[in-house]
Amino acid sequence: MAFNPTARQTSLIKAGVFLAALIPLARMVYLTVTGQLVEPLEFITRSTGDWTLYFLCFTLAVTPLRRVSKWNWLVKLRRMLGLFMFFYAVLHFMTFLWFDHFFDLAEMWKDVLRRPFITVGFIAFVLLIPLAATSTNAMIRRLGGKRWQWLHRLIYVIAPLAILHFWWMKAGKHNFTEPIIYGSILAVLLGMRVFWALRKQAKA
Ligand code: HEM
Repeated sequence: MAFNPTARQTSLIKAGVFLAALIPLARMVYLTVTGQLVEPLEFITRSTGDWTLYFLCFTLAVTPLRRVSKWNWLVKLRRMLGLFMFFYAVLHFMTFLWFDHFFDLAEMWKDVLRRPFITVGFIAFVLLIPLAATSTNAMIRRLGGKRWQWLHRLIYVIAPLAILHFWWMKAGKHNFTEPIIYGSILAVLLGMRVFWALRKQAKA
């Protein structure tokens, strides 16, 4: 079904997505300040981790959805979704740095090196920084489309690292259901891109 929103409708959709993306944060704040959480620190660390992963999936779903539905306007949501992924990753990292280590960077660093699942999460987070930093139009122009595209292929490294982080964390309890579900979703979303790129190359 063709759906081509006007500029005004697109702005409204973007505003709606922006507000919706803040709901998880508002919920975390509300549950914490009203004292409804038994383990608030654990809840916040886990929720921010979950939402980083969900926004990774939403961001990577834009291109396949756009291609399948022909709703080209969806691309206008991609940068915002990617930045919300980074936003929740920063909160996730800050909760770890604050609640687990009280901003003691030396202690945090030891922990990053000691626990492999944290090492992997940390690498994924560091790799996200150049993507967020180059998300503006000015940076895209400065880098040039081709170089920008190459840099943003880091997402093919970040996504498996995010799943490995989640997998390793759940390994202690032998509970792999969620890592398998999100790993499969990300594999399909990235696999579709690879398939289209190879088909384009073969045609050329
Ligand atoms: C792209 C980056 C990252 C993603 C996608 C991510 C995702 C996740 C997810 C999905 C969880 C599990 C939440 C649940 O149990 O439902 C989690 C837990 C956790 N992550 Fe991350 N994470 C990332 C980066 C980091 C970084 C940079 C650190 C710290 C340096 C970190 C530390 C932790 C810790 C401490 C937990 C909780 C472990 C526990 O409660 O036992 N993560 N993360």
